[in-house]
Amino acid sequence: MADLRVNFCGIKAPNPFWLASAPPTDKAYNVERAFRAGWGGVVWKTLGEDPPVVNVNGPRYGAIHGSDRRVIGFNNIELITDRPLEVNLREIKEIKRAWPDRALVVSLMVPCTEASWKAILARVEETGADGIELNFGCPHGMSERGMGSAVGQVPEYVEMVARWCKANTRMPVIVKLTPNITDIRHPARAAKAGGADAVSLINTINSIMGVDLDAMTPFPATDGYGTHGGYCGMAVKPIALNMVAEIARDPATQGLPISGIGGIETWRDAAEFIALGAGTVQVCTAAMVYGFKIVQEMITGLSDWMDQKGYRSVDEIVGRAVPRVTDWQHLNLDYVVKARIDQDLCIKCGRCHIACEDTSHQAISHMKDGRRHYEVKLEECVGCNLCAMVCPVEGCITMQPLTEGVDPRTGVPVGGFRTWKEHPNNPAVIAAAQAQPAVLEPAE
Ligand SMILES: Cc1cc2nc3c(=O)[nH]c(=O)nc-3n(C[C@H](O)[C@H](O)[C@H](O)COP(=O)(O)O)c2cc1C
Ligand code: SF4
Ligand code: SF4
Repeated sequence: MADLRVNFCGIKAPNPFWLASAPPTDKAYNVERAFRAGWGGVVWKTLGEDPPVVNVNGPRYGAIHGSDRRVIGFNNIELITDRPLEVNLREIKEIKRAWPDRALVVSLMVPCTEASWKAILARVEETGADGIELNFGCPHGMSERGMGSAVGQVPEYVEMVARWCKANTRMPVIVKLTPNITDIRHPARAAKAGGADAVSLINTINSIMGVDLDAMTPFPATDGYGTHGGYCGMAVKPIALNMVAEIARDPATQGLPISGIGGIETWRDAAEFIALGAGTVQVCTAAMVYGFKIVQEMITGLSDWMDQKGYRSVDEIVGRAVPRVTDWQHLNLDYVVKARIDQDLCIKCGRCHIACEDTSHQAISHMKDGRRHYEVKLEECVGCNLCAMVCPVEGCITMQPLTEGVDPRTGVPVGGFRTWKEHPNNPAVIAAAQAQPAVLEPAE
């Protein structure tokens, strides 16, 4: 059976599935039950200085639902913990003593002065916690007070605070990054420069969930006013995956441990983050929506898949897909794929035809002998994949690579390898060809 144990920048856990800093990790009662369900670790709900913050006393969450009421995207305007520091620290100490084999990381957010960080670090260290996570991510409320994403958006501050923490604690320091930034590599590099042992990402994305058109108020609303909050849940997974991969393949941060967060609901989501460079994963929304026991599917699913594939440890998967992530300019423009419709599976709904006809390349016929019939015209199809995305029958439309001959659409032979850098349409290639010195006739 696959070994799911992890050692993440010196923090050991029986599996890579950790609960992210949020309501699921807000108190001993929750964390105790989470550990009993099987979570390998938790990042405690962010602690701050006393007196504790005050939350709104009304709707603090918003959601986008799929047509089956499944929660696809989630948002919140909650702040950090609103319980006294002393109570949290006491519970953290008790939990760590009762569950020594689980990872217990404490998330922190205090004002941007070395004295504030130094003071709280000493108190957290006393609990026996395994590490700290610096919350440079919350995009609402705390950022207005100069904390959270207000720090995470300035690489110089990220580096400075990481350095203070490294200088004032022996615990591993994880920097939690905000996605509300243009290029995630800059704060990640800053965290590394400040001596951080790892980064975790993503925190939530700035968002307004919608507008109540009767009240003309964004929601969730408090006494007639709404504000932007942090977006998360399965909808943000692609954004998080890209940011994790960006850091994993950046030569400046290569090898820096990453804890992947954002939209993880299943073992497969987790495995994707791990393949793109995450050493552990963290989950918030899925636990809030489905409860702590989802970790059991994650553990058995990942373990079974690893057994099937012959992977013995999580380390063997970490970053395995990273070498396959590249920039657009390195993609092979001579690689040709065409859509194929399985006539036995097709229910003749016509969605592929409409999509291709109205917005793609008019490459799917819809009639044959006066009856509905959908077939791909190879001489028109550009292989864009839109039809396969909209088809309601899984596996009915597949994308088939052409392996020999010429592309009936362009007449160009398939099977070659030319990227944009070599392509004759590239203005740089044209300019280089024109710059070639003329061949001079040898002198008589
Ligand atoms: C209600 C709520 C409260 C949160 N509070 C915190 C927090 O106190 N500290 C923190 O670092 N992140 C906080 N987060 C962000 C999560 O830890 C996580 O980074 C984010 O939700 C993305 O993961 P997910 O898609 O699994 O929810 C919170 C998220 C939610 C939904
Ligand atoms: S792959 Fe694109 S171009 Fe080809 S049939 Fe489908 S939608 Fe049309
Ligand atoms: S969308 Fe799929 S099921 Fe519908 S007509 Fe096209 S191939 Fe057939």
